[in-house]
Amino acid sequence: MKVKTFNSIDGWHKPWEIIDQLLKQFIVSECHHLLREPKCSVKLKKATHIGLAGELLKQVNELREEPFSASRRVKIPKAMDSWLSDLIENYPPIGRDRGITVLKSTQKFFRSYSSKSVTRPSVPKTPAREKVLRPSTRPGDNCEPLSSPPLRWVRGFLHSLFVDVELSAMELSAAGIIMAKDTAYFSEFACDFSLHIWDEGRHAEIALYGLRFLGGKLGDYTYTNHTWNKVNQFSELVERIMGENVIEEGNASDRAMGQIKNLRSMGYHQAANLLEHINVDELRHARLGNKWVKRILEQNDRQFIDLFKRVSTKIGRPLKHQISCFENLDARMRAGFDRNFLKQFGLSAAGG
Ligand SMILES: [Fe+2]
Ligand SMILES: [Fe+2]
Repeated sequence: MKVKTFNSIDGWHKPWEIIDQLLKQFIVSECHHLLREPKCSVKLKKATHIGLAGELLKQVNELREEPFSASRRVKIPKAMDSWLSDLIENYPPIGRDRGITVLKSTQKFFRSYSSKSVTRPSVPKTPAREKVLRPSTRPGDNCEPLSSPPLRWVRGFLHSLFVDVELSAMELSAAGIIMAKDTAYFSEFACDFSLHIWDEGRHAEIALYGLRFLGGKLGDYTYTNHTWNKVNQFSELVERIMGENVIEEGNASDRAMGQIKNLRSMGYHQAANLLEHINVDELRHARLGNKWVKRILEQNDRQFIDLFKRVSTKIGRPLKHQISCFENLDARMRAGFDRNFLKQFGLSAAGG
């Protein structure tokens, strides 16, 4: 087997640089495939791999900063064990006595990752879906009306949660990672959003588990791709993060109690518990969104507010309605909406 050998290893730095590049390339490449892979089960597997690579990338970077500090020992999560052995088998980063060896297929990854002449992988107009999932052209056709028999409504809700919320959230972050590929902040961005993809993949699995538990299956309802379409109309990364992570996930962290109440009033407490479990993450996701929009806009409050207004309107949430979604202001503060922002709209959190 032909391998490329990196002979010039200056101290221990070089291997970390290579592992860092390898992981980043792996993440971009898996995001690219996740968007084009139709099968849901493979998509979910890829989401886990991306999350694990992001976690490892974070730890490798911490270790690179302080390689001799005992407090910086790499802690490998349990789920990472089998994935790591897969990764090492396919893309062995550590060589034998001469340093680092990389398989030939991996060299391609390196070249496409580091070469400026290679165009960035593109983001498809719509992500691939398996055949059993049928698209709908009529809005609202992806669920049952509240007046339908409860079991049918709950199944429809979980089906739409799986396809049109969680899968789409996962795919939007994969697209974001691809779009951020050549930016100066890519490393931190890739870590943050890989973990976001992992969370959304877990949410998707939870929704699918609930659907199957209640006797439903994939394809029982159509899907609309409304979450994807809403955000994919924007070409700028910062607009997309504002739309999905700041506005939509911000609303989910605050106002999702309505659906939970509906489920409880129908006696579907287990489904309500699943949804509560999912919603716990939304506050953290909205905080991630606020962090990155602020970072990309270089902490310019004025621009942040202007973008918030423009994106809200364009995704079909007129500003007045969007502001009425700010109910739990303490939660909003924890999700990264600061006092200046709230003040602009005549809102103030407790003690503010
Ligand atoms: Fe989610
Ligand atoms: Fe989320």
